[in-house]
Amino acid sequence: MKKLNPKDITPESLFEARRHFIKLGAGALVSSTAVSQLLAKMPEKTLTYKPDANPLKLTLNTEEQAINYVNFYEFSTDKEKPVKLSKDMKTSPWSVGFFGEIAKEQMIDVEDIIAKFPLEERIYRFRCVEGWSMVVPWIGFPLYKLLDYLQPNANAKYVKFTTRHDPSIFPDQNRGIFSAIKYPYVEGLRMDEARHPLTFIAVGMYGKRLLPQNGAPIRLVVPWKYGFKSIKSLDLIECVTQEPLNTWQAENPKEYGFYANVNPEVDHPRWTQAKERVLGKLGKQATLPFNGYAKEVAHLYKDIDLRKFF
Ligand code: MTE
Repeated sequence: MKKLNPKDITPESLFEARRHFIKLGAGALVSSTAVSQLLAKMPEKTLTYKPDANPLKLTLNTEEQAINYVNFYEFSTDKEKPVKLSKDMKTSPWSVGFFGEIAKEQMIDVEDIIAKFPLEERIYRFRCVEGWSMVVPWIGFPLYKLLDYLQPNANAKYVKFTTRHDPSIFPDQNRGIFSAIKYPYVEGLRMDEARHPLTFIAVGMYGKRLLPQNGAPIRLVVPWKYGFKSIKSLDLIECVTQEPLNTWQAENPKEYGFYANVNPEVDHPRWTQAKERVLGKLGKQATLPFNGYAKEVAHLYKDIDLRKFF
């Protein structure tokens, strides 16, 4: 296989690399050990994980709510349509590429990623920039464990995340200039944010594997930031030297920034961020600074003006 040079990594080259892996898998079917290896990679529906004791006594939203009201523009800008449109999405095999300023660039299958890091549950508040919120029991592992494994070098100042670009999966990626946003969807974190113990890689929720509409097979969850930072269906994680230009900042820099910390004191230009509507509840509740995680994360921003770096 052609060695991937980080400079010519494009969504297309990753797509090719992935096709190559898949072909290898199919060719290996003649050997029974390969068959059992392949079967071993079939995703388990249920997951084994350490439960979260829920010390904050958060009231969970129902699974019904969390899986039927989603934001996944690659399928549709509608909240419910992605549920049906993603029904046949093939999420296995699925390898994620790890590139950039790390010890060894590589692609790892999601099943192997799951096998490497013990899974735990995290019950987190989740606040969308649009003004709705929910509480979700995610299952996965903290991102810092993956970063420890990848060994970023001293040049790695940021982590860049990219959603898969595959128009055969995602209908809106087929619409050219008529697509809702530019693809692939990109997000980024400063290295200290990425290494914060709350920053989470999720592979499941409500005790089961993620459903396609929620970002299967693997996504990011950053509970103190607006939901758009929690990028779905990850294709690529890169440790980089420069601040990545995230999708929503690129789309509309007046309304969306890089940091996107939940902040009831800084309104969106078109609506207030002081309150939020909890899915399934009547009325609104006050939005908390850093979505209720100020004690844990406020220190990360002590040197910056959060009105300017919104
Ligand atoms: N990731 C991708 N690739 N595409 C998207 O459209 N939407 C974001 C985020 N991640 C989005 C994405 C937004 S705006 C939110 S609020 C959350 O996903 C929603 O996650 P959920 O649908 O699982 O609640």
